[in-house]
Amino acid sequence: MLKERSYCGELSILDIGKRVLLCGWVAMKRDLGGIIFIQLRDVTGIIQVLIDSSNSSDMFSIAEEIKSEYCILARGLVRRRFEDNINPDLVTGELEIVVDHIEILNTSNTPPIPLEFKVSVSEDMRLRYRYLDLRREDMREAIIKRHILMQSVRKYLSQNRFLEIETPILNKSTPEGARDFLVPSRINKGMFYALPQSPQLFKQILMVSGFDRYFQITKCFRDEDLRYDRQPEFTQIDIEMSFIVPDDIIEIIEELLRDMVKDVIGKEIKIPFQRISYDNAIARFGTDAPDMRFDIELIDCSDIFQNTEFKVFESALSGGGIVKGIAISDQGKISRKTIEEYTEYVRAFKAKGLPWIRCKDGSFVGGISKFINEEQRVILIERFNIQGNTIVFFSSDSQIIVNDTLANLRKRIADDLDLINKDELNFLWVTDFPLLEYNNDEKRFFAKHHPFTSPMPAHIDLLDSINPDNVERVKSQAYDIVLNGVEIGGGSIRISNIELQKKMFSILGIPEEEYKQKFSFLIEALGYGAPPHGGIALGLDRILMLLINRDSIRDVIPFPKTHRGQCLMSEAPAHVSLEQLKELGIRVVER
Ligand code: AMO
Repeated sequence: MLKERSYCGELSILDIGKRVLLCGWVAMKRDLGGIIFIQLRDVTGIIQVLIDSSNSSDMFSIAEEIKSEYCILARGLVRRRFEDNINPDLVTGELEIVVDHIEILNTSNTPPIPLEFKVSVSEDMRLRYRYLDLRREDMREAIIKRHILMQSVRKYLSQNRFLEIETPILNKSTPEGARDFLVPSRINKGMFYALPQSPQLFKQILMVSGFDRYFQITKCFRDEDLRYDRQPEFTQIDIEMSFIVPDDIIEIIEELLRDMVKDVIGKEIKIPFQRISYDNAIARFGTDAPDMRFDIELIDCSDIFQNTEFKVFESALSGGGIVKGIAISDQGKISRKTIEEYTEYVRAFKAKGLPWIRCKDGSFVGGISKFINEEQRVILIERFNIQGNTIVFFSSDSQIIVNDTLANLRKRIADDLDLINKDELNFLWVTDFPLLEYNNDEKRFFAKHHPFTSPMPAHIDLLDSINPDNVERVKSQAYDIVLNGVEIGGGSIRISNIELQKKMFSILGIPEEEYKQKFSFLIEALGYGAPPHGGIALGLDRILMLLINRDSIRDVIPFPKTHRGQCLMSEAPAHVSLEQLKELGIRVVER
């Protein structure tokens, strides 16, 4: 039977006159008296089948019993629909199957969520009944595209000498900056495996072993706060190569993404992608993952306001802070009410207020315009290149707060004013990241990427005199790839020299016993002729979300977790029995 089966969405006018066998679910049924129409759905799409009582009354009584989401089998003849029955919204809208045999394979309860395309349903209900949600058109499409994306990656990388190699899931902790998910060991009581935050150490070990081009499409696990683009369990396209410089990886990834975009959404994109240094990205856009589909840029005005009468700027500058602004040529669209909304919005980024001025016909009105003198007016107009009716928003505070505030406001305004071309795919490399950052609360350095990232060769000597004030000067050989303002991947050239790796641990304040206990195998392995190597990991879920225009990675993952880390369908996480805990030597302390 399987061999003769056809698929609903694949039938075309070329099949007219053929007798076909279809299996699927009833998306919709209409009973018009002597004729019953069924929209039959399978993994490829929907086709109309019709059962005519004048053909067979037995068959018609079976059809009368059929309800929504019943699983059925139908045989019949493909024919062209009558002109006024053609459905232009359906790929198979010109066709219908005149059924001569029908079987109910299984009945169905009434679905608790509507499954029609584009009917909005609460996400909790969709996740609770994910098996039904996955029958919906948009989810079906996402899952199929996910498969195409994975095959595209495998095809390109295999053709380019990469070997797909699996690394373990039960591990020791990998330091990627998030918390680990721990798995207790029954055999070794009191000991825990950690689920991998990434295969970082193992892929480096594979380079030492001589597999000089590795890839893996693999699950990674991070116990961190969840957002629209973050899941506790997500998929990386993980890559590592030996004997390379950053440009080699950049080229490979550009080609890989070009092919992937073509395969998944049929679009041609141009390579090479733009590149911007980290410092430049922060200065111009306030973030290391800028969305460059629209022009608004952050402009530093600290020098202009050195002798300002405006107390807010004055106190920020005298406290070592900065003043930056963004200009929006809105032709007066941004109203006072919207300004109030934006002032409220930026509080989330710790901004205490949102000073603004409007420039009309060359003069400043409203907001803080009374504090701007003639000299400042002229410079501001020139620096922001103000033309036409324009509003300028300012932020004055520490660098971090100012950049964060304006980076977010910039995006919010672009969304509100519809400045973003939603069809554009804007890929961007961000390069020359600082190697380290200093955490003032914990009073210690952290690796900006991870502790195995190599400094720029010319900056290695600077490590000897590193301190919180000059930390940003030491750049690394790390690069991120950003698509439409979302970080979709990151990687680096690794440290392949043991002494340098040890120095890194010492700067990071990781004592010798600790790094030996955690990564002695890597350090030891580096001592056996480790080749120069580097790599990258791309976030598969994020790429797919952006390529097929979904709002969250939950919409491209078959069985995602909620923002509280729960699977509403299987109800994980869950309590376990006392026996299980006892066997593991674990006692739960109730809070
Ligand atoms: P990094 O930590 O930057 O690098 O991760 C690489 C990419 O993985 C995606 N990503 C996530 N996607 C969904 N949910 C999450 N919680 C999540 N966390 C990360 C992002 C990110 O750019 N081992 C290094 C790579 C390397 O150096 O080769 C690493 O994991 O798209």
